[in-house]
Amino acid sequence: MVTDPQTAHARARRGSGLGFGLGLRSAHYEAVLRDRPEVGWFEILSENYMVPGGRPLDYVERIRAHYPMAMHGVSLSIGSCDPLDYEYLDHLKTLAARLEPVWISDHLCWTGVDRVNLHDLMPLPYTEEALRHVVERIARVQEFLGRRILIENVSGYMTYAQSEMTEWDFLDAVADAADCRILLDVNNIYVNSVNHGFDPHAYIDAIAPERVYQFHVAGHSHEGRYIIDTHDAPVIDPVWQLYAHAVRRFGPVSTMIERDDNIPALDEMLEELAHARWIQADVLGEAGT
Ligand SMILES: [Fe+2]
Repeated sequence: MVTDPQTAHARARRGSGLGFGLGLRSAHYEAVLRDRPEVGWFEILSENYMVPGGRPLDYVERIRAHYPMAMHGVSLSIGSCDPLDYEYLDHLKTLAARLEPVWISDHLCWTGVDRVNLHDLMPLPYTEEALRHVVERIARVQEFLGRRILIENVSGYMTYAQSEMTEWDFLDAVADAADCRILLDVNNIYVNSVNHGFDPHAYIDAIAPERVYQFHVAGHSHEGRYIIDTHDAPVIDPVWQLYAHAVRRFGPVSTMIERDDNIPALDEMLEELAHARWIQADVLGEAGT
């Protein structure tokens, strides 16, 4: 297999990645502390721990003593026209000082306007104006936090007539202009490819390899003509196949399985994680690395 120099460079650099991780869920706190499973790292939902104390934060700090941890948020609303919420950012920074995460991530989306929270991660219109808007806000967030953040592509059920470019060109341009990193959610790419009718491989092939620091893979609900990104089921084969394509392009990027509902026993999650590990080994073996 021919590997272009940019891809080879990214792959070599990500050899120092975190390997295979899981989203830390409260149902698994005790099992993680008791069994110390072979998990490379955990990702926490930042908003669940932005408090001065309490049992969940105590569990997380004890688990953090044994595993690297990434902080993943849902409330930044980086695409909104509301002012940036510096109170939220202050809480985020305090938690980061406490947990010393490997990185902080949130979504390339907006979650409300005029202080109304839609409790959903809404896609942006892919326009030059939206690009400038979100790049400027990411720059301010990164300056406040004193670190680069990762932004994640979201799943969506609507598009905008005003869009001037593809979702993948928008994501790539945002990361480049804001000098931030990308959390590439492979399931979200698959979901959108079905909902909006595009080739998911073209999406992956358009993203600059040096920007991608983390993968999400997850399960979803297929409703016939469209898919809802529910994170309540095992990862399906077409998403695993797309994950293999992503590994082929981006190399051994830190990979995490998201499960937010119908959460199974930890052993079952570890089996699914082993499948991701097997795919990566298989792909990189095929590629001769
Ligand atoms: Fe995700």
